[in-house]
Amino acid sequence: MTTAADAARAATFDGVDAATLAVRLGVPRVELWHTLPSTQDAAHEAAAAGAPGGTIVLADAQTAGRGRGGHQWASSAGAGVWLTMLARPTGMGAAPQLSLRIGLRVAEALDALAHEMVRIKWPNDLYLRGGKVGGILVEARWRDDRAEWVAAGLGLNVRVPHDVAGAASLPDGTSRVEVLERVVPAIGQALRSEGVLSAEEREAYAARDVARGRRCRAPVPGCVVGIAADGALIVRTEHGERECRAGSLVFEEDS
Ligand code: BTN
Repeated sequence: MTTAADAARAATFDGVDAATLAVRLGVPRVELWHTLPSTQDAAHEAAAAGAPGGTIVLADAQTAGRGRGGHQWASSAGAGVWLTMLARPTGMGAAPQLSLRIGLRVAEALDALAHEMVRIKWPNDLYLRGGKVGGILVEARWRDDRAEWVAAGLGLNVRVPHDVAGAASLPDGTSRVEVLERVVPAIGQALRSEGVLSAEEREAYAARDVARGRRCRAPVPGCVVGIAADGALIVRTEHGERECRAGSLVFEEDS
């Protein structure tokens, strides 16, 4: 259970205060917390209370960090970057390709810190040296047919979590503030982009795709071809090509 004391605001994040971080990240507001259940929930609360688009909610630890499909996200203190960025879109704002676009931009932004190309597994798991180093969770609150706000969550390991099979981390000694300075503008850029993925974005995704050409059991059995402009996974099955918009990608050799 998270106590009120656990959920206390933090004065600094690795020695940098919230106002300084906001300036360095180019955002209107940074909310810093020692421990939260989930930065997603705090971002939804902040949005409901009127927080501006671009607000960042950042916690040193989460007690109920969540991933896609209701999975838990391990978020120990100091072990990674656990953040949610709020957007107040003017268009539809939460199209299915948004989370892929965020994954692509974040992967590109991290190459220099990772010392190699950060790769992507559909829809938006970030991979480094064969292990999952990060993930993205996009949630929207809808009013009628448009998103009133979008909460774009990013979890990135800077230390390998003990009890998560197949996890990886950024190199030892990576500065979390430097990670923020790279990923926050990247997420912001993705959140401001409208429309389906361009040919250049699909090409950039393909260059980082861990799945292309590999056989999978789910979301449908077959061989992964790539992604469609709306972010769907294209799988060649025995009945022809299928575009999958839900589910998780499971390779044939995965247990
Ligand atoms: C996934 O790979 O399933 C997505 C993981 C997203 C985790 C981040 S950590 C910050 C934000 N708060 C959460 O509770 N989840 C996201």
